[in-house]
Parts: sequence; C-alpha cells; structure tokens
Amino acid sequence: MDALEVIYTRRSIRRFTGEVISDELLQKILKAGFQAPSAHNRQPWEFVVINDKNKLRKIMEFHRYAQMAENAGCGILVCGDSSKQQTLGFLVEDCSAAIENMLLAIHSLNLGGVWCGVYPKEDLMECFTKLLELPPHIIPIGFVVVGHKDEEKAPRDNYDVNKIHYNKW
Ligand SMILES: Cc1cc2nc3c(=O)[nH]c(=O)nc-3n(C[C@H](O)[C@H](O)[C@H](O)COP(=O)(O)O)c2cc1C
Repeated sequence: MDALEVIYTRRSIRRFTGEVISDELLQKILKAGFQAPSAHNRQPWEFVVINDKNKLRKIMEFHRYAQMAENAGCGILVCGDSSKQQTLGFLVEDCSAAIENMLLAIHSLNLGGVWCGVYPKEDLMECFTKLLELPPHIIPIGFVVVGHKDEEKAPRDNYDVNKIHYNKW
C-alpha cells in the first residue's frame, strides 16, 4: 500500500487473535511514532509498551472502552514529558501526532490498532500513572492497542465538501 492508501483505508480494529507482536514489528511501529512532527522539534514523547497480560487486564478493569486489550498483542501508552514541552496543548498535539503515525504504521503492517483515549480524563490518567509507575513530569496521553487482526473493516469515506472553506468561512 502506498501512503495515501494506508491513510484512506485505516480503521479502528478491536478484535484480535491474541498472537504476540514480534519485536521486529513493534520496533517498526515505535519508529513511526518517533518520526512524528512536534512543536519546536522537542519530541516530548515517551512510549510504555505493555505486553504483560496481567497489566493489560488491570487496564481493562479501569478503562471501560479498552476491553479489546484482552486479546491484543500489546498496548502502547504514549506519554508526554512535561519537562521537555511545558505548553500542555503542544504536548498533547505532539503525542497525538505520534499516535496517529503509529496507527498508520500498524495498518500498513497488516496489523490492527485502536486509539483509546486517556488525556484529559483525570481518573484514567491517575490509574495509568499508578499502574505503570510514571514519574510526576510524565503525562499519559493516549493508549494504543495493537494486535493481529481478527476482523476486517471496510474503508469509510469521510470526505465532506461542506467542511472545506476557501479563503474565508
Ligand atoms: C482521542 C480519541 C480517543 C478514542 N478513544 C477510544 C476508546 O477509548 N476506545 C475505543 O474503542 N476507541 C476509541 N477511539 C477510536 C474512535 O472511536 C474511532 O477512531 C472512531 O470511531 C472512528 O472510527 P475509525 O477509527 O475506524 O475511522 C478514540 C479515538 C480518538 C481520536
């Protein structure tokens, strides 16, 4: 698939076979995260890979919209380092760009992935911080669940000409 095809056909995948993600594939996904753009090129992201089934189960206990983690290959918590980027809005945007890059890499590798929201839900941020022993300057932003697909989803065309404005609203 070329880049545009990857972008146009990506869907959130929530059913997985349970097969583990090889280290080779994981590194490719993480590398895509690292390649994201960031404000002032601060690259304030940190990635916590979770392949411990007990920890994935604990995440499912507190994150009601991450139940697909059960059969996933792993989860990746994308965090922002607030000592590298003090403007919280930029920190969130930078980490979000890394998340989207990873989701596209996941799809291009014929794996499935879904973005589970964390920031700005304080209860979820606190639970991830406690479970993964994050230091105070590390802000959990989003949780990417990755696995070998056990479902296929047709691409969706979201293009909407009414949302495009030229030169003025
Ligand atoms: C910030 C954010 C938070 C999300 N949180 C969740 C979540 O907690 N659980 C989930 O299953 N999907 C979550 N999603 C995925 C969306 O539900 C999904 O992207 C949307 O329904 C569009 O479907 P698509 O990704 O297949 O195009 C989230 C997406 C974003 C961008």
